[in-house]
Amino acid sequence: MRHYIADLHKYEGQTVELKGWVYNTRSSGKIKFLELRDGTGICQCVYFRGECDQEAFENFKDLSQEMSVKVTGTVRKDNRFENVYEVGANNFEIIGPSPDYPISPKEHGVDFLMNHRHLWLRSKKQHAAIRVRAELIQAIRDFFNGDGFTLVDAPIFTPSACEGTTNLFETKYFDEKAYLSQSGQLYMEAAAAAFGKAYCLGPTFRAEKSKTRRHLIEFWMVEPEVAFNDLYDNMELAEQFVEYIVQRVVKNKKAELEVLERDLEPLLKVKGPFPRVHYKEAVELIKKENPDFVDGNDFGGADETIISSKFDKPVFVHHFPTAIKAFYMKEDPEDSEYCLSVDMLGTEGYGELIGGGQREDDLNVLLNKIQQHGLREEDFSWYLDLRRYGSFPHSGFGLGIERTVAWICGLSHVRETIPFPRMYGRHYP
Ligand code: 4AD
Ligand code: MG
Repeated sequence: MRHYIADLHKYEGQTVELKGWVYNTRSSGKIKFLELRDGTGICQCVYFRGECDQEAFENFKDLSQEMSVKVTGTVRKDNRFENVYEVGANNFEIIGPSPDYPISPKEHGVDFLMNHRHLWLRSKKQHAAIRVRAELIQAIRDFFNGDGFTLVDAPIFTPSACEGTTNLFETKYFDEKAYLSQSGQLYMEAAAAAFGKAYCLGPTFRAEKSKTRRHLIEFWMVEPEVAFNDLYDNMELAEQFVEYIVQRVVKNKKAELEVLERDLEPLLKVKGPFPRVHYKEAVELIKKENPDFVDGNDFGGADETIISSKFDKPVFVHHFPTAIKAFYMKEDPEDSEYCLSVDMLGTEGYGELIGGGQREDDLNVLLNKIQQHGLREEDFSWYLDLRRYGSFPHSGFGLGIERTVAWICGLSHVRETIPFPRMYGRHYP
């Protein structure tokens, strides 16, 4: 017999056996409280002198934080709250001791907590954020699987750079070099020709030597790519997608968002249509508050915050200058200084969540771009085949999982949105 805390409501009045870890203990005279955590939830187990096993009552003081235990008792409604059940406990059995658990309820520094990430994950807020992440990923899969997309996994070892060479992670591949994937996009372009609508979801790598609250070295990205979609179709897809995933997480992860003390108001407004601004309009907005901004440059985090503060929904910025974007971006046929790229910024200053655009589909233009960007043509020979054999207009985007989790959870740093973060200066534990 074995029961989970999340299922207690099914067993009112019945005897259950729970296995988990000691979250907290309290006692006052004739009554002792054990807060038990089993991964599915936390419940209060109440030991009442005279009603529980005598030995359990006397040995209660042996229980220490994060010790693993087995508890048996009877389920009853906790009348102080709605839908909360507690256990009138009979006894407990120690499974594994936990002397001097390092994370106490007092405040700890971030470095200390990051060094103990493997234990920190047991804490309420960390647990909640990772559950939100899991729901988000499920929502992402459901959205695309339900919309005729085929999942096409992209490789991690790659022969060439997708997002420029400055933050490439080089590694040995037997006697050759390889790079850890910065993006699955180029492979999704091949997949779009094979499947029409394709997406990948997996880890990607950027050797960024900077410590910011938005950058990880290893982060997860979902990348849809659709044959015959133009820039505007791409924005429409991104809008429907983001509305779906945000509303789904808000609906299914209410308890977790409450633990995280997330204000749901801004999230409930994440419903299409989202505002769309041309890069030039975005520059106007920025310049009013940051007169030093140089037209033609990429946005810094503070510039993105200025733009997003003007709207209460996520906002698309499209048509970035060609010069600051990757080699594969298609130039605007009306004005080659700008390209058919688009970023989506989250609300409340969460910054860029999505980057994407319409891809260059002309073989010769693409060949020139590869040269101009200092890339080696032979590395992209396979990619150029996609323009040699049935070239087609196509678009796609990448959404960063960790930034999206940070936004939905209202967390100020991406390090708490992935179970074991890899950051500049940290790959432990
Ligand atoms: O804008 P990025 O670099 O776009 C691409 O990689 C395209 N190839 C995607 C595509 O069109 N298929 O990255 C996309 C998103 C960003 O908007 C951001 O959310 C996230 O990936 N991202 C990072 N997240 C955490 N740490 C980093 N170092 C990130 N770099 C990008
Ligand atoms: Mg980007």
